[in-house]
Amino acid sequence: MSDPQISLISLLLIVLLGGGLTTYLVRAAKGDNDTPIITPENWPMTTGGAPIEPVIEARISELMAAMTVEEMVGQTIQADINAVTPEDVRRYRLGSILNGGNSAPGEDARAPAERWLALADEFYTASMDAGHPAIPILWGTDAVHGHNNIVGATLFPLNIGLGATRNLELVQHIGAITAREMIVTGIDWTFAPTLAVVRNNCWGRTYESYSEDPAIVAQYAQAMVKGLQGELGTDSFLSNQQVLATAKHFIGDGGTQRGKDQGNNIDSEADLRDYHGAGYPAAIDAGVQTVMASFSAWHGQRMHGCKPLLTDVLKERMGFNGFVVGDWNGHAQVPGCSTKSCPAAFNAGIDMFMAPDDWRQLYKNTVAQVMSGTIPRSRLEDAVRRILRVKLRLGLFEKPKPSERPLAGNYALLGHPNHQTVAQQAVRESLVLLKNNGNLLPLQTDQTILVTGSGADNISQQTGVWTLSRQGTGNTNENFPNGTSIWQGLRSAIEFGGGTAILSMDGSYKRIPDAAIVIFGETPYAEFKGDVDNLNFASNEELLLLQSFQSAGIPTVAIFLSGRPLWVTPEINAATAFVAAWLPGTAGAGIADVLMRKPNGAINFDFKGKLSFSWPRTATQTANENNDEPLFSFGYGLTYTDDGNLPQFPEISGLDGSEESTGNAFFALGKPMAPWSLQATVGETSRTVMDARVQLQNALTIRAIDRAAQEDAQQFIWSGEKRGAIAITGPATAYTAASHYDAMNLVIQYREEA
Ligand code: GLC
Repeated sequence: MSDPQISLISLLLIVLLGGGLTTYLVRAAKGDNDTPIITPENWPMTTGGAPIEPVIEARISELMAAMTVEEMVGQTIQADINAVTPEDVRRYRLGSILNGGNSAPGEDARAPAERWLALADEFYTASMDAGHPAIPILWGTDAVHGHNNIVGATLFPLNIGLGATRNLELVQHIGAITAREMIVTGIDWTFAPTLAVVRNNCWGRTYESYSEDPAIVAQYAQAMVKGLQGELGTDSFLSNQQVLATAKHFIGDGGTQRGKDQGNNIDSEADLRDYHGAGYPAAIDAGVQTVMASFSAWHGQRMHGCKPLLTDVLKERMGFNGFVVGDWNGHAQVPGCSTKSCPAAFNAGIDMFMAPDDWRQLYKNTVAQVMSGTIPRSRLEDAVRRILRVKLRLGLFEKPKPSERPLAGNYALLGHPNHQTVAQQAVRESLVLLKNNGNLLPLQTDQTILVTGSGADNISQQTGVWTLSRQGTGNTNENFPNGTSIWQGLRSAIEFGGGTAILSMDGSYKRIPDAAIVIFGETPYAEFKGDVDNLNFASNEELLLLQSFQSAGIPTVAIFLSGRPLWVTPEINAATAFVAAWLPGTAGAGIADVLMRKPNGAINFDFKGKLSFSWPRTATQTANENNDEPLFSFGYGLTYTDDGNLPQFPEISGLDGSEESTGNAFFALGKPMAPWSLQATVGETSRTVMDARVQLQNALTIRAIDRAAQEDAQQFIWSGEKRGAIAITGPATAYTAASHYDAMNLVIQYREEA
C-alpha cells in the first residue's frame, strides 16, 4: 500500500527572539440565561451514608476552637503540586493538594513511583509541622482507570468499556486494586467515579461514563465507591487499604447541549434528577465522602454557583455529609468570580476550592471575605467541619506519614500479575461483538494471520486518556513495563498454537494471509479536546485497508478502539467481523483471549460484552434519547452461539458537507485540529508537539496552559539563545480542502517578559 502523496504545507511562525517571548494560541469562552426553580422535595432522600458520630464531631469542635480564620480557610484550599511547595503548605496550612492530569513530581509525567511517595511525605510532614493545630493534608489524584499517573501501574478499561461488562463484582474489585496501588505511592483520594449519564456522544468525555442508562450508572456508582472506599458498616470502610472516592461531576455534566464540554444543560428538573442525578443517591448510600461540582451549567447557572443544587438538594435533601470539592478553577466560571476570588461559589456550597495555581490570592481574598461577612462565618465553619470529618473518618490523624503506612513503598503491587489478571478479565468482558459474518470468529491459531492498524502495537492508543499525562498523548510502549499491546497478545496466542503472526503496519504482504486483523480507532483526547460536531469517524487509512482485504477475499476482523460509539458503517461493511473494544488499558492480551481459539480448536473465552450505549445509524444521530432506530441498540452484543451474519448497511452519514467542521480550524482548544499538527523546531531539532510539556534544547519550552479553561492554550517560552520556529503543518490535501480561504487568519497573543 503506497503512502498517500503528502507534501507539507507549513505555516511558519518565525518568532523573533527577545528576552523571552511568550506566545499564546488561545480559544475564547462565554455566557448564560435565567434558571428555573429547583424544588428539593422533588428529589430523593438517602440514608446519608456514613453516620454522624458524636466522638468525631466533638473532636472537630475541639480542633476548630483552636483554629484561626486563616487556618480554617487554609483547609478549604486545594493547590496543584506544580504550583505549591511543602513550605507553602506549612505556612498557609493548606488542607489539600492535587496532581492535575499533567502535574507530577518535578513536572516529570513519567517520574518513578518512588518520587511520588517521597513527595507525599514532604507535603504530609509540612502539614503536620508543629503548627497550631497540625492537620494532615489530603492528596487528590485522577486515578480513573487504575492509578493511571504512575508508570507500571495496572490500567483498566475506561468506564465505557466497564459499562459493557455488566459485572458489578469486577468493577468493585477494580476499585479495590486501584486503591491499593494508590496507597503504594502515598496518595489517599481519587477523583472517581464519574457518574455522568451521557445523552450526546459528541461530548469529549463520553468514555468516562458507564452508560447512557441511569440505572446502570447507579449500580456502578455503588460498586466503584465500595471498591475504592470499602464497604460502609464493615471494618473495610476507609481502612488502610482504601482511599477516598469522589462522585462527579455534580450535576448534569453528561447532558449539555450538543454534548459540549462545560456547556449548558437545559433538561427539565425531572430529567436532571432521574438521568443525571441517578448515580448520586447510590454513591451517598454507599458512603462516598466527596462530591465534585460540575463545570457545566443548568439553564445558564454555573453549577459551581448553584446553591439550590449544591446545598438544598445534595447536602440537605439527599443528606450528603462529606464535602464538595470544586473542579479545576471551576469557581472562576461563576459570574462575578475569578480564579482568585469567588465568595459566590463558597456560599453556594463549595467546601473546598480546587485552586491549582492562583491559590494564594484566593486564600487571601477568602480570608478577607470571611472577615467582612461576605462569606458568613457559619458557612466557613460548615465547610471546615465537613473537611475535618472526612479526614477523621479516613483515620488521617492517627496514620503515620505516607511512606510508613501499610502497602506504601510496596512497588511490586504496581501492575502486579494478579492485578493484570483482573485487568485482562475486564478487557475480555468489555469487548462487544457487533458482526461475525460466516462465524469467522473465533480464529484458529494454526494459520497465518496478518495484524495491522495504528492500534496494533500501540499501548498508548489502548489506554487512551488520563494515562501518565492528562491527554494520554506522548506515551510509548516502553512507558508500560507491565502492559501488553494487542499485537503482543495475538502473536503469543497464534505462535503458541503453531501458527504465524505477521505485523505489517502498512498492511502489505508477500503471501496472502489466511485472515487479517485491523486494529484502529480514536487517538487519545481529554475533555473538550474530544468534543466533536458529529459522530463521523473520519479516518480513510484503515477503511482503505479493510476494503483492500475485502476485495482480495481475505477474511478480516476489525478491532475498533474508541471512547464512544461512532459512525463507522463503511468500516463495518468492509469487515467480516467487527469488535467494539473501547479503550481497554494495559492488558491488551485480553483481546486475543477472546478472538483466538485454543490450540485444540475449542473456544477459549466467548464474548460477554453488551452495549451500554446505543450505536448510531448515522453520524448525526448524536443524542441517545433519539427515537430513530440506532444501528445497534443499547444491550446488543453477539456471542459465539449467535448467528453473527449481518447485511451490508446503507452508508448514509447524514452529513451534507455543509457542516462547520473543525477541519477549517488549524488550531483550537489548545491543540491542532486533525489533520494538522504542531511542529516546533530549534536548530536541527524538530518535534511534533504531542506532550503537555516539551523542551527543545535550552531554547524553547512548550507547555499546555489554562487560558479560559484547563489547558486550552499552548505556551511557548523562548530563552533567546537560538532561533526557532513553530509551525502548524498538514497534508496538501487538507490545505486544498480549505482552499476557499483567501488568506489564513491566525490570531496569537504575545506577552513579552522582561
Ligand atoms: C479536570 C476534570 C476533573 C478532574 C480535575 C482534576 O478538569 O474536569 O474531572 O478531576 O480536572 O484533574
